[in-house]
Amino acid sequence: MVMLSMLTALALVPRPEKVVENAGTCVKPEIRYETDASIPAEGYRLSVKPEGITVVSSDAAGKYYAGVTLAQMKVPGGKGKPDAYPCVEIEDAPAYKWRGIHFDDCRHFFGKETLKQTLDLMAQHKFNRLHWHLTEDQGWRLDIPGYPELVKYGAVRSASPRHGTHPHRGAKEDAADLNGIKYGPFYYTDADIREIVAYAAERHITIVPEIELPGHVFAALAAYPEFACVPENMKAREPRLVWGIEKDVLCLGNDKAIKFMEDVLDYVCKLFPGDVVHIGGDECPQVRWKSCPKCQARIKAEGLKDEHDLQPWVTRHFVKFLEARGKRALGWDEYLLGDIPKSAIGMNWRESSRGGAGHQLVSGVAAAMRGHDIVMTPTSYCYLDYAQGLPDDPFQYIGGRVTLERCYSFDPCKDVPEEARKHILGGQGNNWSEYTWNEFDLAWKMWPRACALAEVLWLGDKKPGFADFKARMQTHRKRLVGQKVNCAPLE
Ligand code: ACM
Ligand code: ZN
Repeated sequence: MVMLSMLTALALVPRPEKVVENAGTCVKPEIRYETDASIPAEGYRLSVKPEGITVVSSDAAGKYYAGVTLAQMKVPGGKGKPDAYPCVEIEDAPAYKWRGIHFDDCRHFFGKETLKQTLDLMAQHKFNRLHWHLTEDQGWRLDIPGYPELVKYGAVRSASPRHGTHPHRGAKEDAADLNGIKYGPFYYTDADIREIVAYAAERHITIVPEIELPGHVFAALAAYPEFACVPENMKAREPRLVWGIEKDVLCLGNDKAIKFMEDVLDYVCKLFPGDVVHIGGDECPQVRWKSCPKCQARIKAEGLKDEHDLQPWVTRHFVKFLEARGKRALGWDEYLLGDIPKSAIGMNWRESSRGGAGHQLVSGVAAAMRGHDIVMTPTSYCYLDYAQGLPDDPFQYIGGRVTLERCYSFDPCKDVPEEARKHILGGQGNNWSEYTWNEFDLAWKMWPRACALAEVLWLGDKKPGFADFKARMQTHRKRLVGQKVNCAPLE
């Protein structure tokens, strides 16, 4: 049996680092704000006494998070009575500075309203990074000046895999069962992006845009076939219709293809004020480069050994390109293969060398020991498109099994030696959307598992344990359902 403490009754998620509960309540709505430079970034002290509420922080994010905690503590008055807050003394600060949620708008498109709802919920759980997956084989979602064909051809497909089928599993991808339903055009304009960036900033969330390269670019190649090694493969002029890994990738021997990506990233750097730009790098087969005269000429001209060296070459190019624009590059772990500048941040997702596009495994631990900053998103803890182990779950998943308890057991610093832990920026829940069609199954797959990830990333080693978390979640889930969030059951 789980003993229900007062703190469980407060049901704060993520649980603050230090909480002392006192008798009484406060019904005065005014809050006194103070600054204390000794409080860590994003941290706060919150004092609720019968005579009033005081918030102390060193920055605006800490002040904001005190408000998030207060909102969870509020006991609504109703019928002309004031809201009440239980008396507490809280000292709180995050364990990790990267507390992310990834959002795939490419396989399926969710749009601004769902993004805003997701940002609202992220803020309520003190997440601070939205990793926005904007370009893929199956869709290009960003209107780029000077490249009108991108959204004309890249943002619409004539069909998708039929609901309920699973082209990832066994069946040959090119024999996938397609639904024949036109999907799109779906994309974001300049004004849409500015609106979302501002909405996120008000909630202390930085948007991290992802522009995939050199693989996962089929939708862009549909628009500009000349940027592929084999332009004839793009004659249908539409994105890839099935899920999985695409062999047609950016031709790295073509200067115009490199210039295209430079133009895209230059625009992205201007449009997104955040400090980090994600440049993909995962699952890039090299088979086209092997037989492409332009790619082979590049290998020769740059003194590279063979096609395996082309991805590190292009990664180095864009890490420096972003650096010159005041941004840090982030990429999936494959992009750290080869001699990559230490300023490049890795996003570790693979846990075994099987799968992917056959790239040798780069472990997040090894990369951190080499001096790269790392965001940990291992599939078996952080992939919210994996099944959550519920009986009679009505929704389809890509596969796998990541239960709520498994999410809660995530430790971004697992196996990382003490001296390399400073390189572990944090972690993130990843919402890939091949098998996620709309806002209802998106929410179901995210919540409550993202609550567990939020607590892991906020508390680190200080998390109190799954039983304590689950007891608080009984109440917290009702809070989410009360906001009409399609939150899955706890088990
Ligand atoms: C990934 O899941 N392909 C990064
Ligand atoms: Zn080529």
